[in-house]
Formats: sequence, structure tokens, C-alpha cells
Amino acid sequence: MFPETDTMTKNYHILAIGGSTSQHSINRAFAHFAARQIGGNVTLLDLNEFEMPIFSVDREKQGYPELAYKFRTLIEQSDGIVISLAEHNGSYTAAFKNIMDWASRINRNLWQDKPMLLLSASPGARGAQNVMTAALDRFPRLGGNIIAHFSLPKFHEHFDGISITDTHLAERFYEVLEKFIKSLKNSRAS
Ligand SMILES: Cc1cc2nc3c(=O)[nH]c(=O)nc-3n(C[C@H](O)[C@H](O)[C@H](O)COP(=O)(O)O)c2cc1C
Repeated sequence: MFPETDTMTKNYHILAIGGSTSQHSINRAFAHFAARQIGGNVTLLDLNEFEMPIFSVDREKQGYPELAYKFRTLIEQSDGIVISLAEHNGSYTAAFKNIMDWASRINRNLWQDKPMLLLSASPGARGAQNVMTAALDRFPRLGGNIIAHFSLPKFHEHFDGISITDTHLAERFYEVLEKFIKSLKNSRAS
């Protein structure tokens, strides 16, 4: 557990999202882990529950799927978002991109200015840096308020299910987590 977690964070409602539909998604696990460190109420979102037709401007003419509205409502009801992105062929997974496309067409302010901790993880040495770079550029254009970001490379070597085992990476992770928690507190106070 994060050493400086205090009672103030207990009431916070954190939406944790893993950007993958894999049954054993490392990113869902990582997002959940990070959100739990904050000490508030965590809703862990499963992208499998947001399966929609592949977005097209033609399908859009028939209206938006209820699930796209539901995704937006979950964001609206949260105090902050922890999201860990999986990388497929250098970018978002198809499932995540599809949800983002649908939900951002309802209203471009998809992330609704909620404080966001942006994470990525991969089994490889780069920690899904490409999708991280894409999101750092794109999310702010969709109402994303990215407070801090962190990529975890070689997930299976550096994470044992309970903690980040590499000292240097763990230090860096808790630095960004602290920054995120401070921002949550500030946005509640204002
Ligand atoms: C179709 C496909 C493409 C992938 N492309 C990349 C890639 O571009 N970069 C990368 O680091 N890993 C890539 N991977 C490996 C994923 O990082 C790995 O499967 C990881 O576990 C995905 O995250 P998840 O477990 O949260 O789904 C790819 C995997 C698949 C199935």
C-alpha cells in the first residue's frame, strides 16, 4: 500500500480501466493495482462489457449504442480515472479504440476533465511506449486531464501481483501516484 495514503482518499471514487479485453489482461491488473493503492472506492471496468459494433459514420446515423452512454456516465460519476493501456501493433487495442470512438462522438469531452493517471504495461522492454505517446497527445484533446503517467516494461519480471518488484520502477511509480493523489485532493477541495 502507498505509504502516505490517508483517510481523505477513502471516499474517493476511482474508475480503473484496463485498455484490453484479454481475460488475463496485465493492464487491467495493473490499473486495478494502482487504483487500490489510492485507498478509495474502486470500480474496475471490464471492456468486454462494452462491446459495440465497429464504429462507422454510417452506423452513427442510426444513433449511439446505450453502452457508449454508459461508459460516459461511469466517467462522470468518478472523482478520478486510472487507465492502463495495452499496446497492439503500436497503438490502442481495437476494443479500446472502438469504445473511445463511439463515446467521443456523443460529445468530444470524453474524459470530462477528471484527474487521470495514465499507465501502460507490456511484457516487452518498452512498456507500451507507443500507445502511451498516442494517448498523451490525444486524450487532452478529448477532455483528458492527465496528471501523471508511467509505463511498466517487462511486466512479468517487474510485477508479482502484489507489488512492483524493481526498486527504481517502484520509486518512480509511487512518485507519479503521489502526484495523482494530490491532484484528487485539490480537485475535491476546489
Ligand atoms: C495483436 C497483438 C499485437 C501486439 N502488438 C504489440 C506492440 O505493438 N507492442 C507491444 O509492446 N506489445 C504488443 N503486443 C503484446 C502485448 O503487449 C501483450 O499481449 C500484452 O499482454 C497486452 O496487454 P493485455 O495483457 O493488457 O491485453 C501485441 C499483442 C497482440 C495480441
